[in-house]
Amino acid sequence: MALLSLDNLDVAYGNVQALRGVSLTVGDREMVALLGANGAGKTTTLRTISGLIAPRTGTITFDGEPIAGRPAHELVARGLAHLPEGRDLFAPLTVEENLRYGYWTKRRDKSGYATQLDRVMDHFPRLRERRRQAAGTLSGGEQQMLGVARALMSSPRLLLVDELSLGLAPMIVEQLFEILKQVNGEGTAILLVEQFVHMSLSNTDRAYVLAKGEVALEGRSDELLADPQLIASYLGEQELEAANATGASAAPAPAPRRRSRSRS
Ligand SMILES: Nc1ncnc2c1ncn2[C@@H]1O[C@H](COP(=O)(O)OP(=O)(O)OP(=O)(O)O)[C@@H](O)[C@H]1O
Ligand SMILES: [Mg+2]
Repeated sequence: MALLSLDNLDVAYGNVQALRGVSLTVGDREMVALLGANGAGKTTTLRTISGLIAPRTGTITFDGEPIAGRPAHELVARGLAHLPEGRDLFAPLTVEENLRYGYWTKRRDKSGYATQLDRVMDHFPRLRERRRQAAGTLSGGEQQMLGVARALMSSPRLLLVDELSLGLAPMIVEQLFEILKQVNGEGTAILLVEQFVHMSLSNTDRAYVLAKGEVALEGRSDELLADPQLIASYLGEQELEAANATGASAAPAPAPRRRSRSRS
């Protein structure tokens, strides 16, 4: 059974329908990309999973239990961590104080804290060096690292990541992806929202493409990667250029499953 499954989710902000009949799954230890143009509903999907928005209809199952409508703090305790869009670190607090907060969101015994801090810091030598520095004075890339590190302090089974790449140079984004792959390799499932399509598909097992609040396309990432034109038709010209620039392979692959009735 999937670790996370969304079934036929509808979400609206007042009269604005943001998600229509969204269904997706993330398997245990799987790394899945959620792609889509601006406004497609990616952030809304993650916020709904982590209990910040209540769906109008549909079900969300995490680890075998229905979780739609459960409060966010309860979901953290069950093993769900969310790294939101933008940086919501406590800027005046130090790196270590931010990490301690991440640990206490799950409220476990004090004795485990030092071990967990050490484990997480092993992924982030740059943060270890800067542990007493105020979070607000870190570089953009270091702040994103801290965001990931803070989410990992709660030992999540599933990590939701929204636009890790925002405002960062591609080289830094690649380093962050490397870290996410390590974390995934150690057993944390990841659902990743990204604008860097090529990098996302190169680093994930499967992907979903949202268009106007619906799942328009889903498939294995390597298969989607082999057909940049197909993805570009959902994501716009900019992404097509990016995919071409990176020289994505044109090798034939089985066609990914298309779900939408119309391609817009
Ligand atoms: N708080 C809100 N109130 C009203 N409408 C909202 C709200 N948040 C999002 N929306 C609308 O819902 C739709 C989906 O937004 P969402 O933020 O999920 O998109 P996204 O795929 O994350 O886009 P981006 O790539 O720009 O981050 C958009 O049309 C947006 O305008
Ligand atoms: Mg968003």
